[in-house]
Amino acid sequence: MTRLDWLSRAAAAPLRGEVVVPGDKSVSHRALMFGALAEGTSHIRGFLEGEDTRATAAILGKLGVRFETPAVGERLVHGVGLHGLRGTTEPLDCGNAGTGMRLLAGLLAGQAFDSTLVGDESLSRRPMRRVTDPLTTMGASIDTDDGKPPLRIHGGARLKGITYHPPVASAQIKSALLLAGLYAEGKTEVIEPHPTRDYTESMLKAFGWPIEYSPGKASVEGGHALRAVDVDVPADISSAAFFIVAACIVPGSELRLKGVGLNPRRTGLLAALELMGADISVENERSSGGEEIGDLVVRYRRLHGVALPLDIVPDMIDEFPALFVAAAVADGLTTIRGAAELRVKESDRIASMAAGLQACGVKIDELPDGAMIQGGAIGGGAIDSHGDHRIAMSFAIAGLVASAPITIGDCANVATSFPGFMELANGVGFQLESAR
Ligand code: S3P
Repeated sequence: MTRLDWLSRAAAAPLRGEVVVPGDKSVSHRALMFGALAEGTSHIRGFLEGEDTRATAAILGKLGVRFETPAVGERLVHGVGLHGLRGTTEPLDCGNAGTGMRLLAGLLAGQAFDSTLVGDESLSRRPMRRVTDPLTTMGASIDTDDGKPPLRIHGGARLKGITYHPPVASAQIKSALLLAGLYAEGKTEVIEPHPTRDYTESMLKAFGWPIEYSPGKASVEGGHALRAVDVDVPADISSAAFFIVAACIVPGSELRLKGVGLNPRRTGLLAALELMGADISVENERSSGGEEIGDLVVRYRRLHGVALPLDIVPDMIDEFPALFVAAAVADGLTTIRGAAELRVKESDRIASMAAGLQACGVKIDELPDGAMIQGGAIGGGAIDSHGDHRIAMSFAIAGLVASAPITIGDCANVATSFPGFMELANGVGFQLESAR
C-alpha cells in the first residue's frame, strides 16, 4: 500500500450540514457471509465499499460464490447453500480485517476442504487463539503461528456443539462460534461476560435459522438451512463517531448524521458524550430490517471530563480513539478504565492515542486498561496513525481544534472502513488535505 499522510488544520468556521456515512462494517461482513451460505439470491443495500468488506467478498468469491454489483453500495449474493462452498489452495487474504478473519475461521472450520486465512502486517500481529481455542474444543483443526495468523484450517473435521463462556466480551468470538455451530452436531451456546452486538443472531433469524438469543446469550443447533433475504445495511455509527465528536468540539457547529444504526450495543459513545455534557438528539427514529436507525443531530456544547462508567466500554469499543479527542478538549480530567481490548485492535489504540496526543501537547497518562486524559487545549504536531484507520480519523478531528496543524502519518488504511472520508469531512468544514 502506498504511504499516504494527511494534514489537518483548524476549522475556519463552524461545521454545518448533513452527512450520510458509509454502511456498517459489521453488518456488511455478515450479510456477505450469510448470503453466501443461503439458498437463493440476497440483495444487500447500503453495503460498505471498504477494503475490509471487499476482502471478505473476494474470499467468498474464491470459494465459489458469485456476486453482482448492480450499483455502488449494492451486492447481489448468489448463495450456494450451507454445503456449497468449494475449496481452493490459494491463501484467502482478509487484509486488515479482524472481523473478516475471525468470522471466516468459524465458517471455514466446518467445511470439507482445507483453507488458509492470511492478513496484512497489522492483522498478522493480532491474537487468534480467542477463536481457534474454542473452535478446537468443538473439534476443529486449526494451526496458527503461535496464536497469530496465518490460520491453516484443516477440512473434514466433525464439529460438536459446546457451551462457551468467552473470557472477553467480543462479538467476533461469539460470531465465529455460532457460524461453526451451523455445521456442528448438537447445540452451540455462547454466554458472554457482557452483551455484545447481536447482528449475527438477528441475521441468522432473518435468514430463517432457528436461534435462541437474549442479551449476552445465544445458541444455535446444526442441521438447518439458510434462506436468502434482502439486507438493508444502516450507516455505521463507528464512522459517524468522527463527525459526532467533531460537531461536539468545534464551537458553533451543527451536524445531522442520517440513517445511523442505533443498535443498543453500539451506542456507548452517545452515552459517554452525554455524560460529558454533549448536545445530541435522535430524530426520525425508525426500524429497518429489525435494526433501530435514526438521524443524529449534534450541536456544539462545551464538554467536561468524566470517569467513564465501566459498563459503557463494550458498547463503544471502536469509538474510543474519537472519545480520547473529546476528552482532550473537555474541561477537567477524563478517566477510562476496563478497555484493555483497545490494545489488540488494528493498532494498540491506547498507546497510539497516548503517543499522538502527547505529541500535540496533551497531558495523558496511559493505564494498562485505559488512560487518564487532562483536558484543555490541543496543540499542533506530527503523529503516526500506525496504519490504523480510526487513529488517523481521530487526529483529523483533533486538527479541527488544534492551535497549529496536525500532520498524520500513514492514513491509507482509512479506506478499510471509510472510503471517501476526506471528501465528506471537507464538505462540512474540515480543512483536511493530503500532505504529499
Ligand atoms: C466487531 C466486533 C468488535 C469490533 C469490531 C467489529 C464485529 O470486535 O471492535 O470492529 O463485527 O463483530 P471484538 O469482537 O474483538 O470486540
